Amino acid sequence: MTQDELKQAVGRAALDYVIDGEIVGVGTGSTANCFIDALAGIKHRIKGAVASSEATRKRLEAHGIKVFDLNDVIDLPVYVDGADEINVEMHMIKGGGGALTREKIVAAVAKKFICIADGSKLVPVLGNFPLPVEVIPMASAYVARELARLGGTPVLREGFVTDNGNLILDLRGLQIVDPVGLETQINQITGVVSNGLFACRPASICLLGTATGVQTLCAD
Ligand code: A5P
Repeated sequence: MTQDELKQAVGRAALDYVIDGEIVGVGTGSTANCFIDALAGIKHRIKGAVASSEATRKRLEAHGIKVFDLNDVIDLPVYVDGADEINVEMHMIKGGGGALTREKIVAAVAKKFICIADGSKLVPVLGNFPLPVEVIPMASAYVARELARLGGTPVLREGFVTDNGNLILDLRGLQIVDPVGLETQINQITGVVSNGLFACRPASICLLGTATGVQTLCAD
């Protein structure tokens, strides 16, 4: 199977976790797009969706799926999203598409986080994928200096502005042995909006697309 076929397979598999009559939280990226396309086939069974980005909102609406403002939603049983990297503890790096802050907010409201990923995303140690950090524009140089003290190399994502009007620093060259600690530490830097470590709140399960089928993983 190609990588795209693996993404489609996990997108379809995630439908099993969508609750009839409820609102579903929807992530951002190419794998989340596969989920959205699959969700369109059962849209009559759900109340609607909450989007983690403008791109996702547009794709949901193009399929005729009602998109709710998160502020109008109290119960969100499930959030479905991809990852740039995930480990066996269900800690993730996200934000390759720059939507990390809204993804983290929607995930925080949801009871369950269903990560969907092709097999290439499962790694022994997080950090090969550059860690995205969303920053307030006037703080970007200061935050970059502070991030460099953590041992990585921050690189400004050129020509990119988030849905929230902020910038992204991609922190390269880290071997993240303590994802919870690093997520917490980066959040303490003034000017940081959020960072792409999803470890304090890991995925509930991961649906991993492999050559032998979709595997369901959860933390020990
Ligand atoms: C978007 O900001 C990201 O968090 C994506 O969810 C993540 O990068 C996975 O994207 P792909 O499914 O396109 O690999």
